[in-house]
Amino acid sequence: MQDYKNPNLVLETAQVEPGSITWRSPSNLAIIKYWGKHGRQLPKNPSLSLTLSSSFTDTLLEYRPKESGNRDISLEFTFHGEPNEPFRDKVLKYLENVTDMFPFLRQLDLTVRTGNSFPHSAGIASSASAMSALALCLCSLEHELFGTLDDDADFDRKASFTARLGSGSACRSIFPVAALWGQIGEAAGSSDYWAIPMADHVHAVFKDFHDDILIASAEAKSVSSRAGHGLMDGHPFADARFADAKRKMHFLLEAMRKGDLETFGSIAESEALTLHALMMSSTPSFTLLKPNTLEMMERLRRYREETGHPVFFSLDAGPNLHVLYPGDIVHEVRPFIEEELAPLCEDGKYLQDWAGEGPVQV
Ligand code: DP6
Repeated sequence: MQDYKNPNLVLETAQVEPGSITWRSPSNLAIIKYWGKHGRQLPKNPSLSLTLSSSFTDTLLEYRPKESGNRDISLEFTFHGEPNEPFRDKVLKYLENVTDMFPFLRQLDLTVRTGNSFPHSAGIASSASAMSALALCLCSLEHELFGTLDDDADFDRKASFTARLGSGSACRSIFPVAALWGQIGEAAGSSDYWAIPMADHVHAVFKDFHDDILIASAEAKSVSSRAGHGLMDGHPFADARFADAKRKMHFLLEAMRKGDLETFGSIAESEALTLHALMMSSTPSFTLLKPNTLEMMERLRRYREETGHPVFFSLDAGPNLHVLYPGDIVHEVRPFIEEELAPLCEDGKYLQDWAGEGPVQV
């Protein structure tokens, strides 16, 4: 296994010109969920996600030769222009954790300025966009300073590996349209250590797929991911769950290749409900769905039955409903969302998102 440890990435500090790097990186929505991990951020089952567009994090990394001679990571940090100690601590811990891959980080004064496109209170998990944006900045910095990572595929793979160490789901945000994380026999190059791009293996319908996020509750805190994944250790249904995810992956890959929306949708919904069923049946147990989440699911199913439109739902580890549908029916589905689902949302709030092109260096 390539672990990217590289003690040679050490600077002649006098030669470094101060500079900055900015990446915009999107969130992603898992269709088959990553829930349960082991070792150094390795998944217990493969997962597959759609890369989103309008939910993203912008991260600016400034660097200059370190003034002090000490070996600690030197970090200034702002979130939406304000200092934020809890987030700074998280980033600092992360940077310390990856100094085996990027030893030069100890030789620089670093400033990270970051912010999300979506409101913090929207109950949207930001770790995928935030950690992927930061990982991309680190890989660009390595390239800038050492001229490594010339090849795009090498760059993306290292960025995905690096993002995974910050947050598992973040490794999937590196790629446009869709990404697969976790080793499975039927996907060449797939790995537990990084995600692989799937855009070339999915039908065109998924390149223009919508994911509108209905905010059933902005306040409800989702289970922290560390606690959530921990719930799978010793979970009575764990083995069956991991086997089920692998089995579903086989059918999902085929459905996405062919553009079979019925199968895609039924797997997406089954995975969403399985994730919540696992949380409800773990010890301790969590019920994150709100009455309005269930009501929205009911209305969506009724709408699908009445119209025959391929509209499906998914959920993250929280109460907000992700409404999934192909772009060619956006003009039919939006009025349904506006009239029947949005009134069930907190302050009528929902976010429009869609499958996107992946991260961009700004
Ligand atoms: C339910 O990636 O947030 O969104 O690796 O501990 O940071 P950590 O977990 P995280 O877990 C995501 C869980 C999920 C499903 C998914 O995105 O696959």
